[in-house]
Amino acid sequence: MSNVFPSRHPLVAHKLALLRNVDTEPKKFRELVPEIASLLTYEATLDLELRPIEVQTPLALAKCQALQAKIGLVPILRAGLGMVEGVWALMPSAEVWHIGLYRDEKTLKPVEYYNKLPIEPTVQVCLVLDPMLATGGSAVATVDILKRWGVTKIKFVGIIGAPQGIENMQQHHPDVPIYLAAIDERLNERGYIVPGLGDAGDRQFGTA
Ligand code: PRP
Ligand code: URA
Repeated sequence: MSNVFPSRHPLVAHKLALLRNVDTEPKKFRELVPEIASLLTYEATLDLELRPIEVQTPLALAKCQALQAKIGLVPILRAGLGMVEGVWALMPSAEVWHIGLYRDEKTLKPVEYYNKLPIEPTVQVCLVLDPMLATGGSAVATVDILKRWGVTKIKFVGIIGAPQGIENMQQHHPDVPIYLAAIDERLNERGYIVPGLGDAGDRQFGTA
């Protein structure tokens, strides 16, 4: 699979084991999601472009670099919300644009219910945030929305991906790299990732 980057970082593996555990309470779950998102974003942003700047230190002018592009974080509601804090800590000037989608329980197709993007794009790079890439329908639909908005550089940062979701994304958006903590075995008959971690939204918000 090209353009898919499962993390090999030991801290990610350790935290993912805690996240998967059925006995992990929502409070701990809510702490782990942004921590993992932050570590994955560190890996996902390795190729961001820089521009040269000069900075006055107490002693002299220093030749430095600053991020070139304006970055947008795009959490898919609800479960992507928990990832924002961890990513924002790394890039506090990023804009956050929420996209609301839920999966129809029968068809497993995404249904859009929230999108307040302005007409003109305000950022050049988007990081789509959603812990679960299951059938890939939600991720594909979100990238469709962002491309229609006019953004061309898009990355997907998730936590667990299923082979089917990765394939779906690669078929529709082969230009979008996918960063994950792990690639799991399969989807079950209800479209849940196995072994996965269950319902990421319910586990964060205590609504199971
Ligand atoms: C979950 C998850 C993804 C989607 C993944 O959201 O957060 O958005 O399912 O599934 P897919 O790859 O098959 O589209 P859900 O629809 O459960 O909504 P929620 O986050 O509001 O609970
Ligand atoms: N959404 C989730 O929250 N978990 C899954 O395993 C699949 C979709």
